Amino acid sequence: MKIASIVAATGLTTALALTGLSLADDDDHDRQRYKRPKRLVAPSDAPLVWKEECAACHMLYVPGLLPADAWRQQMQTLDEHYGSNATLDPEQEREILDFLLRASSVNRLPVEPSPTAGEPPRISQTRWFEHKHDEVSEAKFARESVGGRANCVACHRDAERGDFDDDRVRIPR
Ligand code: HEC
Ligand code: HEC
Repeated sequence: MKIASIVAATGLTTALALTGLSLADDDDHDRQRYKRPKRLVAPSDAPLVWKEECAACHMLYVPGLLPADAWRQQMQTLDEHYGSNATLDPEQEREILDFLLRASSVNRLPVEPSPTAGEPPRISQTRWFEHKHDEVSEAKFARESVGGRANCVACHRDAERGDFDDDRVRIPR
């Protein structure tokens, strides 16, 4: 029983890894190797504390956008969170961290430090982000209607649910 479920779980992981690999390879023909997130849809059992507290100052970033170790760094430095204090009570922080680790584990992304020293990693400064947006100019990200590259939801309407499909992208004027 135990062995069977381990085998089943391993099989699943391998299948996922293979799918991810072939997708990444399609994207990699310009020799710029990078890994992009595979599964972005937010899990349906996401805790309320995450939805409320992590969307208090900005949009809600789905767990698949960063690797587990980057989320760990985020959650360990909430007192110096990009110049803001975002600390919560320890129990809430624990619950959010557990969720982020669990929900991001299918994506084997590398941790990419922020180019700004002293900051936790950013989604908007990863290689896959740069690559996916190499046709979006700085001027567009800077539009008042957009509000910067970290405000995904300005252009990806359902970003908070993890939908970044390029068929549904719209850059506001
Ligand atoms: C008190 C306000 C505040 C709260 C609460 C808050 N954040 Fe932030 N967060 C910020 C600010 C400010 C930035 C930097 C925004 C920028 O530079 O555009 C940021 C940036 C981020 C980024 C990086 C965005 C990028 O550029 O890729 C992530 C990831 C993030 N926050 C996650 C979280 C998580 C997870 C929580 C909940 C535990 C949280 N935040 C709660 C203020 C907050
Ligand atoms: C100024 C508008 C804008 C903002 C802000 C923005 N994006 Fe995008 N994004 C785009 C456009 C346009 C494309 C499609 C690019 C193309 O197809 O050439 C895209 C493509 C993507 C893709 C690839 C989709 C696919 O089907 O291959 C992902 C993933 C993505 N964005 C994630 C994000 C995340 C995460 C954020 C926030 C941290 C973000 N984007 C912020 C405009 C934006």
